[in-house]
Amino acid sequence: MTKEIIKLEHISRDFHVGDETVHALRDVSFTICEGEFVTIMGTSGSGKSTLLNTLGCLDTPTKGEYYLDGTSVRTMGKNARATLRNRKIGFVFQSYNLLPKTTAIENVELPLMYNPSYSASARKGKAVESLKAVGLGDRLNHKSNQMSGGQMQRVAIARALVNDPAVILADEATGNLDTRTSYDILVLFQRLHAEGRTIIFVTHNPEIAHYSSRNILLKDGRVVTDTMNENVQSAAEVLATLPVEND
Ligand SMILES: Nc1ncnc2c1ncn2[C@@H]1O[C@H](COP(=O)(O)OP(=O)(O)OP(=O)(O)O)[C@@H](O)[C@H]1O
Ligand SMILES: [Mg+2]
Repeated sequence: MTKEIIKLEHISRDFHVGDETVHALRDVSFTICEGEFVTIMGTSGSGKSTLLNTLGCLDTPTKGEYYLDGTSVRTMGKNARATLRNRKIGFVFQSYNLLPKTTAIENVELPLMYNPSYSASARKGKAVESLKAVGLGDRLNHKSNQMSGGQMQRVAIARALVNDPAVILADEATGNLDTRTSYDILVLFQRLHAEGRTIIFVTHNPEIAHYSSRNILLKDGRVVTDTMNENVQSAAEVLATLPVEND
């Protein structure tokens, strides 16, 4: 049987702002298995980021149970939750969130700093391996401000991969990139998926759902549809048809 990596049972998240209560998530339940590539879609304010923050143990639900790789997250203390997050989850954000004026290697090493079992040379070795896996073997010592948007996002993906996480969570990971570079990054996500990675990719762009294996649509904090994609398209094929810009 395929392993369940994520299990949400009746998750709700309320925010209190003044006298108002915002129901950002309402009774959300689903299971995601190892090796799935799931896109989460919905209009602005539908609860996508709140859901991703919940999955990433960055936010605690008001109600419901969340099991990450078999562990109940709700009952954990803050420190245990931070350790679980560091070991099990790789994050990729729209704005890359790299340390400024810091090399690719140093950025990618960062998640390993919290793990005392790695020596400095082991950390560096893992970071180099991870950067090579995303096609940045020739940019190891470039600093964040010396790279393009697509390269910065690759560094962020290498950083997300370096701990060999159970799941990669991406929030609008192609949101700041031009069309061609977005497809470049989608090709990389599809390759990681083909290699068996579990990916959850939040986006408001319906195109991206064509490249994932499953799509969950949120509306007003509820799951309205949850569909398997029987006809996954190849981002590499689309990329090959896009014109190369010379500047
Ligand atoms: N910290 C917070 N305090 C109060 N309300 C919040 C907070 N975070 C989110 N919300 C509200 O919860 C709802 C869901 O927000 P969320 O950020 O999850 O939406 P989203 O689907 O990610 O939107 P977008 O596509 O614009 O990023 C919104 O109505 C938002 O205003
Ligand atoms: Mg959002």
